[in-house]
Amino acid sequence: SRTVARDTEGVVTVGGVDVKRLAAEFGTPAYVMDEADFRGRARAWRDAFGADADVFYAGKAFLSKAVVRWLHEEGLNLDVCSPGELAVALAAGMPPERIALHGNNKSVDELEHAVKSGVGRIVVDSYEEIERLAAIAGHQGVRQPVLIRITVGVEAHTHEFIATAHEDQKFGLSLTGGAAAEAVRRVLAHGASLELRGIHSHIGSQIFDTAGFEVAARRVVGLLASIRDEHGVELPEIDLGGGLGIAYTSEDDPREPAEIAAALADIVRRECAAASLAAPRLSVEPGRAIVGPTAFTLYEVGTVKPLEGLRTYVSVDGGMSDNIRTALYDAEYSVALVSRTSEAEPMLVRVVGKHCESGDIVVRDAFLPADLAPGDLVAVPATGAYCRSMASNYNHALKPPVLAVQDGAARVIVRRETEEDLLRLDIG
Ligand code: LLP
Repeated sequence: SRTVARDTEGVVTVGGVDVKRLAAEFGTPAYVMDEADFRGRARAWRDAFGADADVFYAGKAFLSKAVVRWLHEEGLNLDVCSPGELAVALAAGMPPERIALHGNNKSVDELEHAVKSGVGRIVVDSYEEIERLAAIAGHQGVRQPVLIRITVGVEAHTHEFIATAHEDQKFGLSLTGGAAAEAVRRVLAHGASLELRGIHSHIGSQIFDTAGFEVAARRVVGLLASIRDEHGVELPEIDLGGGLGIAYTSEDDPREPAEIAAALADIVRRECAAASLAAPRLSVEPGRAIVGPTAFTLYEVGTVKPLEGLRTYVSVDGGMSDNIRTALYDAEYSVALVSRTSEAEPMLVRVVGKHCESGDIVVRDAFLPADLAPGDLVAVPATGAYCRSMASNYNHALKPPVLAVQDGAARVIVRRETEEDLLRLDIG
């Protein structure tokens, strides 16, 4: 559903708006988001999972009030993992019962606020949290619906998964170690204030293979059966988290939502039938797969420095403050000249930012035309997820705006930071 094209002069347009106009009107760097593409992907997930499942968009990938409204209109729910994300969700009018709250160390204040706001699911992640939440809900006279986050012993890596006996990480309660079963006992013991709705699992991120999700589904259903056997209750929900990968470069081959939906529905149905359980309602939490491909970062080239026999360093007017993923995860991105065509030979480049740090790399290895010059505009695709949401003010950089384009019009949905914004926090 992307609406990217080149006009007769070779200028790239998105959503009917050309990038030179965007740069002139809003400045660079800027994140440019295709609203129709975002809505289309949200809808594709909704349709793939159908009426018997819920899609919770993972707000950590990117959250703003406009995005919350789009999600609401397209019939998605929302996963938040901090008080800040919850505040944006509520400010933009997401019904609280359609919000799920995550986090491995939610504070008492945060839990009190979430319960008071009527958040639909709180995903509990520790014994301490179960006690805290039971006390808070009891005090407010509420029976709070919860899921228990478990670790299923599937460790997802970038392009594969491996099954692990031991889980060495901060999230969740171990299935194999017995902590998950103990958490179930503790939540059920607080039946007056906590309503145990189901079990949650999230195996990792940027995953291309459905097999890891299938193993997780099998183990979660196995736990539902053992809960039925021990306590005589059949929990009505399972949430299998997010993590479906997207294409950052042409090497990546992502799965479609329909494919993952069919695989999960099938395995849950079969495992439940084998255990004589009624199939629970399924939820998933895609973040990157919905928002990642919908935006690119638009930069202006400032300097072009050829290093004899090595490569050419192309400096753009942003960098690791607007995209930390290359430095942090060795993530791969591509880059394109978008403000004109060029017949020049390709040259090997490294696209770097303007920060005082040599690790400030946006695109490690790429080819751009040899006549690239200051003032040219370049775009780095697939920066919708975990770029603006992980942006920093390193070197007092000002976080770029997020522009939404649609039907030939562009508008700012998150404005550019200003020096006044930074100075306002510095009270001397
Ligand atoms: N649900 C839970 C409980 C999660 O922890 C996450 C991601 C998601 C859903 C969404 O995962 P997604 O569908 O977006 O892969 N900053 C990293 C990614 C960290 C993801 C953390 N949790 C990155 O830039 O790749």
